[in-house]
Amino acid sequence: IWFECISNDGSRENLMKLVHLKNIFSRQLPKMPREYIVRLVFDRKHFSYCLKKKDKIIGGICFRPFFEQRFAEIAFLAITSTEQVKGYGTRLMNHLKEYVKTMGTGIDYFLTFADNFAIGYFQKQGFTKTVSLPKDRHSGYIKEYDGGTLMECRISSLVNYRK
Ligand code: ACO
Repeated sequence: IWFECISNDGSRENLMKLVHLKNIFSRQLPKMPREYIVRLVFDRKHFSYCLKKKDKIIGGICFRPFFEQRFAEIAFLAITSTEQVKGYGTRLMNHLKEYVKTMGTGIDYFLTFADNFAIGYFQKQGFTKTVSLPKDRHSGYIKEYDGGTLMECRISSLVNYRK
């Protein structure tokens, strides 16, 4: 398996990959309006961290780094149905934690609005419902979702999450 971070740079190659990932998100997150998924996945401020197996994208995380605030918001996360519960979701998140460290400016928190049925998954990835990130660092930056629970994960520079 491979990991690759892509964004909408206008290239045909990346657009095709983003369409594929957008379809995985739409199928796995049926309650999210399709147009909203399209908007964020193709928005240039959002990045998609993709998991590839045998050259095929089987899942990914769409996230938006807020460089000045030094956190990243996780907008969508999904693994295609036939590949779930095999540990890929965990590996994807661990690799993303290391990847954001390389993006500069010292991003040290993830925030997300977790669907209720995904809270257990996020807790296993080190996310908590208690948000310690000071409000002035995130308030007004991320979009609130009805029915979602705000969760955070602190990313430690001392830990190598890929190990
Ligand atoms: N609730 C509780 N525990 C879960 C859930 C869940 N919904 N999903 C996985 N887990 C557990 C697994 O049992 C496993 O536990 P273990 O380590 O004790 O064995 C652990 O979490 C990690 O499992 P993985 O196999 O790494 O997870 P997977 O590859 O299945 O990916 C994911 C998890 C991304 C949530 C996947 O199941 C999925 O795509 N679900 C549908 C879409 C979804 O719900 N996305 C998140 C919505 S919230 C958002 O996008 C911000």
